[in-house]
Amino acid sequence: MTETLTVEQRRAALEGIAAEVRACTRCPLHAAGRTNAVPGAGSYTAEVMFIGEGPGFNEDRQGLPFVGQSGKLLDELLSMIGMRRSQVFITNVVKCRPPENRDPLPDEITICTQAYLYRQIELIAPKVIVTLGRFSMGLFFPNAKITQIHGREKWENGRAYLPLYHPAAVLRNMETLKPQMEADFRKIPQLVAQWASRQSSTTAASASAEPPEQLTLF
Ligand code: URA
Repeated sequence: MTETLTVEQRRAALEGIAAEVRACTRCPLHAAGRTNAVPGAGSYTAEVMFIGEGPGFNEDRQGLPFVGQSGKLLDELLSMIGMRRSQVFITNVVKCRPPENRDPLPDEITICTQAYLYRQIELIAPKVIVTLGRFSMGLFFPNAKITQIHGREKWENGRAYLPLYHPAAVLRNMETLKPQMEADFRKIPQLVAQWASRQSSTTAASASAEPPEQLTLF
C-alpha cells in the first residue's frame, strides 16, 4: 500500500497520525500526568526504525523521543555506525509517559500500537525494525527472552527485525552490556545491505519462475 503513496502523501498521513497522538484520549495514560504525547521523530522514508518502550520524564517535557540519558547513548551508537537521528525514525510502543516510569500495561500497549505504531510502520515501511527493550521486542518476538535473542534478527514481512537491549538497561550495566550493544548495533547497516540483496534474489527467483514469454505466443 505504501508503495502506491507519494512521499508527500506519506508525510501527510504520518503528520495526521502525530496530530491524533497529541490529542489522544484512548487510554488512561492521557490523564496520568501527560505534558506532551510523543508520536516519534525522524525521517518519514527511514530505512531503519527504532521502537523504544515509552516516553520518560524528559521526553514528556519535550514531546520528543529519547532526549534523556538513554537518548545520548542512542546518539553515540548511531554515530558509531555512521548514522544520524535525522536518517532514522525513532518512536515508542506507547506514546504517553506511564506515571513514575512504570511499565506500560497490556491494554495500554494494545490500544496504542493498534491505533498508531502499526500504522506508522506501514507508512514508513522500514527495511529494518530495531526493538529497544523487552516491551518492544514482545510485539514481534512473543515469549522471547532478551538475554537469549538480542542481536539475532528475523526476517518477516519483507524486512528484518532486530531485538536489542534498551539503552537504559545498558546504562545500568555498562561493563557487560555496552560491548554487546555495540556488537549488536553494528548489525544494523549489515541488515540494510542484506535487504537489498534479498530483494534482488527474490525478484530474480520470481522472474525465473515465470513461464518464458514466447510460450504464450503459440
Ligand atoms: N525510553 C524509551 O523507551 N523511550 C524514550 O523515548 C525514552 C526513554
